[in-house]
Amino acid sequence: MKSGRMKIKEVLETCKSGSEMIVKGWVRTVRVGKNVTFIALNDGSCMTSLQVVVEPSIPGYREICGLGTGSAVAVRGKLAESPAAGQKYELHALEFTIVGLSDEIYPLQKKRHSFEYLRSIAHLRPRSNTFGAVFRVRSSLAQAIHRFFAERGFLYVHTPIITGNDCEGAGEMFRVTTLDIAKPPLVAGQVDYSNDFFGQATGLTVSGQLEGELFAQAFSDIYTFGPTFRAENSNTARHVAEFWMIEPEMAFADLLADAALAEEFFRYLCRHALDNCREDMEFFNEHVEKGLLARLEGVADASFAMMEYTEAVERLEKAPVQFQYPVAWGCDLQTEHERYLTEQVVGGPVFIVNYPKDIKAFYMRLNDDGRTVSAMDMLVPKVGEIVGGSQREERLDLLEQRMVEAGIDPAGLGWYLDSRRWGSCPHAGFGLGFERLIMYLTGMENIRDVIPFPRTPGHAEF
Ligand code: 4AD
Ligand code: MG
Repeated sequence: MKSGRMKIKEVLETCKSGSEMIVKGWVRTVRVGKNVTFIALNDGSCMTSLQVVVEPSIPGYREICGLGTGSAVAVRGKLAESPAAGQKYELHALEFTIVGLSDEIYPLQKKRHSFEYLRSIAHLRPRSNTFGAVFRVRSSLAQAIHRFFAERGFLYVHTPIITGNDCEGAGEMFRVTTLDIAKPPLVAGQVDYSNDFFGQATGLTVSGQLEGELFAQAFSDIYTFGPTFRAENSNTARHVAEFWMIEPEMAFADLLADAALAEEFFRYLCRHALDNCREDMEFFNEHVEKGLLARLEGVADASFAMMEYTEAVERLEKAPVQFQYPVAWGCDLQTEHERYLTEQVVGGPVFIVNYPKDIKAFYMRLNDDGRTVSAMDMLVPKVGEIVGGSQREERLDLLEQRMVEAGIDPAGLGWYLDSRRWGSCPHAGFGLGFERLIMYLTGMENIRDVIPFPRTPGHAEF
């Protein structure tokens, strides 16, 4: 017998009938039969619960029969082929220890609960089947992301979480301060941040891109993968105030190289989920989105479409549907437009490129037409925008001009401008929203259900 505790995944994948082992976990169901009691035991290592068979001769049998869903137990037992359909093995208990009791008030009783209800008990929902699967897939994808970049020689850089720059310029930064907000120091009616902790106004980062660009100009290819914050007051199924973003940045790269990387990356991650998270993905295919596996298989093998923003607007103007937001050249695309393009026009992932400069961030490279920038958004069915990226403006004078147009004081970003003063080179990158990726891969339709503890307007529990 292996001396320590074994995880159920390992038991099911590697052990042979007749071997002895110790397993520990939480009771999902107790079924008391005439001659024996069956306990479904889950330890989170996989979706499948291990059926434990307990005979009346086991000490503590009476208490074992009365165990509630959610109780923590440890079992030493012997593995045997199971006569029951749908499972290969069961564990015949030799010794059974009750570690922590649970009772009938436990909010996660064995029945189907709505996602809304489970969200209200986010501290317990990881113990349910669906959320077990979501967070195993999420963990596995995080590892796959690091592997993808490691295999391609990208440097992993940790950009700051507290920062003075609002990269996207959308004014959505959460303030970080130690000032007494009831009595802030004022100078001419304005808060005087020179007295604040950092001696300047700071907030939580909305993107690690600007710092990432500095590293790309030293290490060629880099990426960040970290928490990102936006005080965006949008209560949608696609926005959270705290999310995780992956941001690669490549020196000596243009927009097409950027899109090529995004496509390769996205396909790699679809393939990873299909090949490495099979049991959980089959669960989603069965219970969350029928046809999910076929959809992802298609994307993992596809080559993605690319469309000019101008053409996208023309297609939308001609669309035989009534959009809530009207479309005209120069407008930003709304989720309803994005979904129409990717779902109805293309029928798969599509890059929309070369957006009007006025609706995009200051750092994007101005195209020769003088009115569009080298931007790309990758749109996918069900989610809409999942990747936003661009080739960066590497020409100092044009960058300064764009900053002034956007109302950004170049003096505040001297360090960023320095990267254009010495050894400036064409470079490009993008940001992939990690939660939107997990939504896409699992079929889950609300972003609050793919992040452990969602932060949205009015909600920051835990
Ligand atoms: O398009 P965004 O704002 O791009 C950037 O932040 C660039 N600095 C990226 C870069 O070029 N390095 O955000 C990138 C992605 C979006 O496409 C979306 O997937 C996700 O981040 N995202 C959000 N996800 C969840 N909740 C929110 N509030 C999000 N805002 C953006
Ligand atoms: Mg965007």
